[in-house]
Amino acid sequence: TQRTLVLLKPDAVRRHLIGEIIGRIERKAGWSVTALEMRTLDRAILEQHYAEHIGRPFYEPLVEFMSSGPVVAMVVEGERVIEGVRQLAGPTDPIAAAPGSIRGDYGTIVRENLIHASDSEESAIREMKIFFPGLS
Ligand code: GTP
Ligand code: MG
Repeated sequence: TQRTLVLLKPDAVRRHLIGEIIGRIERKAGWSVTALEMRTLDRAILEQHYAEHIGRPFYEPLVEFMSSGPVVAMVVEGERVIEGVRQLAGPTDPIAAAPGSIRGDYGTIVRENLIHASDSEESAIREMKIFFPGLS
């Protein structure tokens, strides 16, 4: 069984989609939310989280957006949950995301794509340490 780090981005919170998105995740057979916190992220934590994107043209606006309001950070646990939550989310660009996916159903802007989910087991471990340092 796997664990993954999921963020409901500030647009999802502002648009009152927390319940909708968590509902989709929770309804998947056997998946559980095992840690959850609402908080506003600062530049320092975003620099860690998005370290791979520092220097890219979209990095500054991304940090600006991701610190523009509270996010919901959570750990989701279950069978193939790393691949699975990314599948539920859909591709990064919401216009390229199929209807039925979270980004496909609710997004239009690349930056404001509602949800983050770890992209590998290594990323999941790294990101869970950033957001939930107390977890074993
Ligand atoms: P995350 O789950 O948030 O990491 O999304 P991702 O894995 O689908 O995308 P990636 O890690 O490549 O990029 C991180 C975030 O930066 C994306 O979710 C977008 O919000 C934003 N982003 C990525 N690429 C672009 C881009 O080309 N233009 C813009 N404006 N934003 C981008
Ligand atoms: Mg990513």
